[in-house]
Amino acid sequence: MKVVMIGTGYVGLVSGVCFSEFGFDVTCVDVDQSKIDTLNKGEVPIFEPGLDTLLDRNTKAGRLTFTTNFDEAVSQADAIFIAVGTPSRRGDGEADLQYVWAAARQIANAAKPGVVIVTKSTVVVGTNRKVAEIIREENPDLDFSIASNPEFLREGSALEDFMRPDRVVVGVEDKRAEEVMRNLYRPLFLRETPIVFTGLEDAELIKYAANAFLAVKISFINEVANLCEQVGGNVQQVASAIGLDKRIGGKFLHAGPGFGGSCFPKDTRAFAATGEKFGAPQRLVEAVIEVNESRKANMAERVLAKLGPDPKGKTVCILGVAFKPNTDDVRESPTLAIIPILQEAGVIVRAHDPEGMDQAKPQLDNVIWCSDAYDAAEGADALALVTEWNEYRALDMNRLHDAMNGDVVVDMRNVYQPDNMRAKGFDYSSIGRA
Ligand code: UDX
Repeated sequence: MKVVMIGTGYVGLVSGVCFSEFGFDVTCVDVDQSKIDTLNKGEVPIFEPGLDTLLDRNTKAGRLTFTTNFDEAVSQADAIFIAVGTPSRRGDGEADLQYVWAAARQIANAAKPGVVIVTKSTVVVGTNRKVAEIIREENPDLDFSIASNPEFLREGSALEDFMRPDRVVVGVEDKRAEEVMRNLYRPLFLRETPIVFTGLEDAELIKYAANAFLAVKISFINEVANLCEQVGGNVQQVASAIGLDKRIGGKFLHAGPGFGGSCFPKDTRAFAATGEKFGAPQRLVEAVIEVNESRKANMAERVLAKLGPDPKGKTVCILGVAFKPNTDDVRESPTLAIIPILQEAGVIVRAHDPEGMDQAKPQLDNVIWCSDAYDAAEGADALALVTEWNEYRALDMNRLHDAMNGDVVVDMRNVYQPDNMRAKGFDYSSIGRA
């Protein structure tokens, strides 16, 4: 079976490489020539642990190729995945689907009869039906089937998520699409992974509802953390004990500086916008969006409060700009919201991140970028840990303390032990641990 992946962004590239690892013949297509050149040299343009090894292996085996020649690739495909970007539209928060529509139009004129066209991009309800409509309009003679196959990949563990998912969701309308999709995911049958076949609308909704629900969990525990701080509680105890109830589950209950990344912020906004549009407001999700926005600002205010009445001219060390560890992605990272608020108050910011600095640099002015955590701590009055990279977990605290000018540490990920930190002489505060 020949598979074509349209779009070599994060989702398209990971999915294309993984299908080739399953043994399928995969061609990844992108309009960006320089990206395709990079991939053809065997280099991976994104940071995702393990992806380079799989790309190398499958390219050498001849199963994985990269091209800008859309029509040629598409004309040979049995299954075509649309994995182009769906950014948030400015103003109304709805997903901007112009790249999906453009791909559908181009596919209509190049695909061979019997092809299954699969949407992998996260798209709002009704998109798959519209993709089918566009294809029929463009080329009424083309015999094709449509499928919706949302992804649930986490950056940093995307290969594991693709190879060992909790479930695969596929929206279809006919037997042909079901058969092709079943074949594509057959390697997962050995692991008894459930493949859930649904209608198109359900598949679209499942993706948004899943991400929105996870975002609800995070915002919920963040607010519980606030209460813990006021009443002398410990949010980690509360989270782990409520998580033992199987109906709740222990995952996604880590209190922190608020969620970021390319999915949760965008998907919650799009889900709320869809609810609004169809007269079924998603009030919980709307509240989550608000809670999460104010959370990030509150994190900056915590640091400022620790600096005393006149923070102007003081120095803050920020550890972590990526929205989470094991990625260089800074999209909607809490750090991008925190740093400007500190700067607004006249604070000098020194920052470090193992992978995310290159992406953050164009988005932040006047930050002193540092070579490691100790360098970033040099002369700082306060240190804020925003992203829980492993390399920050076992820092030499004496060295860190010596490098700093002050002794304030605001640990936004509860990485350090309060007693240890206080014993080392830090004025230490964390999240939800009174
Ligand atoms: C997410 C979904 O997990 C994935 O299924 C979907 O397809 C894409 O969006 P991702 O954005 O890569 O994946 O990261 P994830 O690990 O889910 O974390 C998202 C954000 O939530 C991060 O900012 C993280 O720090 C935060 N988070 C997560 C918390 O603050 N607490 C938690 O308990 C979990």
